[in-house]
Amino acid sequence: MSEDSGSRPPGPHGLFGNQRAYQRDRIGFLLRNQREYGDVFSFSDVSTVVLDPALIQQLHARTNAEFASEVSMFSDKGRFERLLSTIPTTMAARRKGWRGVNRSASARHAARLVDAFDRVMKETGGREVDANDVMMRAAGFAVADFIFGGDGRDVAPIVDAVDRAVRATQVLMDRPYRLPSWLATPGRVRMRRGAQGLREAIADRVAARRDLPPEDGPRDLLDVFLESSPGDPEHVHMPLNLMLRAGYGAPGAALTWAARQLALYPEHARALREEAESLGDPTAPGRPLAEAFVKEVLRMYPPSWFGGREVAAPAELGGWRFEPGEQIMFSPYVVHRDPRWWDRPEEFLPERWDGPESPHARHAYIPFGAGPRICIGNQLAMMELTLSVSRLAHRYAIELANPDIPMVPQTILRPLGLRASFAPV
Ligand code: HEM
Repeated sequence: MSEDSGSRPPGPHGLFGNQRAYQRDRIGFLLRNQREYGDVFSFSDVSTVVLDPALIQQLHARTNAEFASEVSMFSDKGRFERLLSTIPTTMAARRKGWRGVNRSASARHAARLVDAFDRVMKETGGREVDANDVMMRAAGFAVADFIFGGDGRDVAPIVDAVDRAVRATQVLMDRPYRLPSWLATPGRVRMRRGAQGLREAIADRVAARRDLPPEDGPRDLLDVFLESSPGDPEHVHMPLNLMLRAGYGAPGAALTWAARQLALYPEHARALREEAESLGDPTAPGRPLAEAFVKEVLRMYPPSWFGGREVAAPAELGGWRFEPGEQIMFSPYVVHRDPRWWDRPEEFLPERWDGPESPHARHAYIPFGAGPRICIGNQLAMMELTLSVSRLAHRYAIELANPDIPMVPQTILRPLGLRASFAPV
């Protein structure tokens, strides 16, 4: 509500609400309404879209106080109380995650990561495959190894379990509608089975680790968690489960976009290959070209392209008042391509990241979110993506079968249906 008039921000009034127009062309809908109503517009009586970087920054920074982060797109108000009650547990899990997901722990697993990447590529046999399936698997190995890989046991059973759990959830989340929660649809049954399978796979690894003699330092993130949570198994299980899921789809999507861009821009692929060759060791840090390439991929194709917050307490944002239970949505994709904040935003220019100057206006680059709920895997993801993209450019020839796939942003922005082959060179 606005402070003076008691009204909501202006916005479109579709014949049957705006869902239909939004579902038909999600990004087009946001851009059209931004042009017509500005950076703050109403989507419905309870949802507002905010596309100004400074306001999005406030939304992030004030999360856990006036705004709550667990929100599914335009969901009903009824979920609100339940969501709020999960915050203390999630925050406790986050604090533990930070201790493990740091630069030195990440560096230790780099060698295993490159091996796993090569194995996944080898499995494709140079045949044409669904690129996103392959890259999600590579990302799955990376995150599973980071958490569990220190004891030398194969992490493939965990990756398979994450795959089943995430895919089953994704199908339901990608749907534009929500069915009543009591309805046991086949999709819901699959999702529950997937969740159960993942629980069992994690429990198996945790039990096996408890039987191993301790080592001097933590072998991986699981050791960190076991050391700090000897008591309640749920305190180990829940954050690991969250990280496995979060570390699967988004980095998988980013890797797939990166593979596509490498194939579409051979001059960048060549530069990355030369950089990798000059370093020799495929895990050596210091790959500024590969890192800039990844940053540019995350700018143009942010996997978390649309996010939101629930209003948790009466709040003011951008001169408008919001009440508990309302939703405020934002789009990193739209901000990352706004010419007010970026020079030549529609061009793929990894070189914009060269040099000490920031290539964007303040708060206009948010692929990992910001504030107290910023992605806890962001450093791990940057390391994982940089090494994998460098490896891809160095050792594989990528052929795209259908480079001009349409942009269909779902819960995650991924190149749906992109087919490619990866032949070793
Ligand atoms: C390209 C890769 C990735 C992208 C683009 C990405 C993006 C994001 C974004 C946008 C958020 C929400 C931040 C917010 O609401 O302010 C998030 C949360 C999260 N991410 Fe990532 N992420 C990536 C990789 C990873 C990896 C590898 C892990 C595994 C360690 C991970 C673990 C998490 C967790 C656990 C959360 C929830 C944090 C919380 O709610 O407190 N992410 N991520």
